[in-house]
Amino acid sequence: MIIVKLGGSVITKKATPLTINREAIAQLATTLKESRVPLIIVHGAGSFGHYNAGRFGLDSGEETRNPEGIARTRDSVLHLNLSLTKILQESGLNIYSFPPIALYREGKLETHANKVITEIMKINLIPLTYGDVMLGENGFRIMSGDVIVRDLAILLKPERIVFASDVDGISEKPGKKSPILRELDRGMIHKLSFSKVRNDVTGGMESKVLEAMRIAGQGIDVFFTNGLRRDRLMKALKGEKDGGTVIRGFNYEN
Ligand code: IPE
Repeated sequence: MIIVKLGGSVITKKATPLTINREAIAQLATTLKESRVPLIIVHGAGSFGHYNAGRFGLDSGEETRNPEGIARTRDSVLHLNLSLTKILQESGLNIYSFPPIALYREGKLETHANKVITEIMKINLIPLTYGDVMLGENGFRIMSGDVIVRDLAILLKPERIVFASDVDGISEKPGKKSPILRELDRGMIHKLSFSKVRNDVTGGMESKVLEAMRIAGQGIDVFFTNGLRRDRLMKALKGEKDGGTVIRGFNYEN
């Protein structure tokens, strides 16, 4: 089983609020189908959720009790989820979509999630969930799809994880001049520098890399690939080199 995160930068047009990237989704749907690997898909919020989260001040990282902000942000996430599900379905992927709240209790992924996902996958359905506005202890908070991927990885121990975004992988410095790293060693993390991304309330690439390290620490390989490039996405899904940047799984004991 492989967990793939479809970043908001691939499935939406990040610079334009509330705009889906239909062509990109149709193309990646074909690649996902052709890969023939058992998948769990988690998607991001892109120019839907991030836009409304920013507009209504849900981007502080704190829990909020602003009903309009919560409702509007959720509404945009659900809209994106429905559109995405439809396109994936039309491409022949049989999707079973559910909100992450179905898997969590008091902010923690329930072990029951294992059964839910196993049962869905047993009949060749593809589980699909997403970054969302989640119930916290004292209100609601934004939960990134990256955190869901990390929690699912720790629980389900998939073969590998693929983060698909609109860049080819991770480079030491932001900007086109710095080449993409084939492999990112955990010792190199502190040498990386990241650009600050506008319209991203969940921390952009930096927090993604930190979540990826936690996943790799469970012995699971994590790939960062370009979801807009068929060849690269396919290689990452298959665990082949040149798919992007890989963080090899390791165990903390070693
Ligand atoms: C964000 O999810 C969820 C909301 C803003 C509601 P992600 O953090 O996974 O979204 P992307 O991939 O960065 O767009």
